[in-house]
Amino acid sequence: MNKVDEIKELLNQIIDPTLGISFKDASSVIDVKINEDQVVDLKIQLKSRKKDENHIKLEIARLIKIKLGYPGLRIEFSDSKFNLENEKKVMYIGVISGKGGVGKSSVAANLAVAFKRLGKIVGIIDADVYGSSLPSIFGLPIEPLSTTEDDLLIPADYDGLEVMSPEFFMPKNQPLMWRGPMLGKLITHFFNDVAWNPDIEIIVLDLPPGTGDIQLDIQSFVPDASMILVTTPHPNASHVALKAGLGAKEIGHEVIGVVENMSYYYNEASAKNEFIFGEGGGKQVAELLNAPLLAQIPINQPKNPETYIYTLEDMNGKLYYALARKILELIQ
Ligand SMILES: Nc1ncnc2c1ncn2[C@@H]1O[C@H](COP(=O)(O)OP(=O)(O)OP(=O)(O)O)[C@@H](O)[C@H]1O
Ligand SMILES: [Mg+2]
Repeated sequence: MNKVDEIKELLNQIIDPTLGISFKDASSVIDVKINEDQVVDLKIQLKSRKKDENHIKLEIARLIKIKLGYPGLRIEFSDSKFNLENEKKVMYIGVISGKGGVGKSSVAANLAVAFKRLGKIVGIIDADVYGSSLPSIFGLPIEPLSTTEDDLLIPADYDGLEVMSPEFFMPKNQPLMWRGPMLGKLITHFFNDVAWNPDIEIIVLDLPPGTGDIQLDIQSFVPDASMILVTTPHPNASHVALKAGLGAKEIGHEVIGVVENMSYYYNEASAKNEFIFGEGGGKQVAELLNAPLLAQIPINQPKNPETYIYTLEDMNGKLYYALARKILELIQ
């Protein structure tokens, strides 16, 4: 862990006395810098500065100067707008990959369904503007979405799971070169103008492969998304996947784990797993990113041929259920 992250992590554990929740949950740590002369420069938000500033200043000084041994400390306090009643925190889980076709959308969709099966209120955003595919994965008709009276978009519904995709807005035969810029703007609406279930707990994001503008946009809408990196088992694919993981980290997103997809094929005739696409890629990326390998999903067709969603009777459905549970443990 680098020094700034080390400081952030310690600060995040401090409790805002007025809110009664941690700096992490209240997003109170705005900025951490270490100057050349080893002076630590902090920007911190507090709910009641008048009441708590002195006390918190002391607590932070103890941490930075005594515990960590930095010679100097400057803290700029500002008012926290955090409001316990209205602020229900939505967990954003982004699914990324180094290259296309590794099963990112399948993973995103099946993961969202698994969260739903675990009793969560879930939405999913198709943010892969050039290759959006969620409607067909869920078997949803491609037709314009309705809007509320105050012009908010009403997401499509898959069994209670809310789905938002550019496909619902685009004439099907529009050339790709026109779609790009239009769709980039559309993403903004997905974050600002959608009538999500007000109690929504998790929003899964199917992100485009690689690192690009959309990733940066997403960073500005959801600064604290947890990322899941999807890769295939081939060791040669892992350096591309790694790049995407490092890119996500660079813009401040935490890569909480790796999912290896198309890991093997279970051959019923021989009752053996066959490693068609090689072996070890997932493990390799996980080690390099210092994140856990959360699941290895085999090659398998869903039982229901109308969608690409696995049921709980499918082996893959069970694996996604276990994966969703692991992710909740990691982020809650
Ligand atoms: N575990 C699996 N078993 C069988 N088929 C799979 C599996 N994972 C993905 N597929 C299939 O592979 C194809 C690519 O998957 P998907 O569209 O999810 O990948 P992607 O990474 O989102 O691709 P793109 O970059 O084009 O968006 C799809 O046809 C999908 O149904
Ligand atoms: Mg996709």
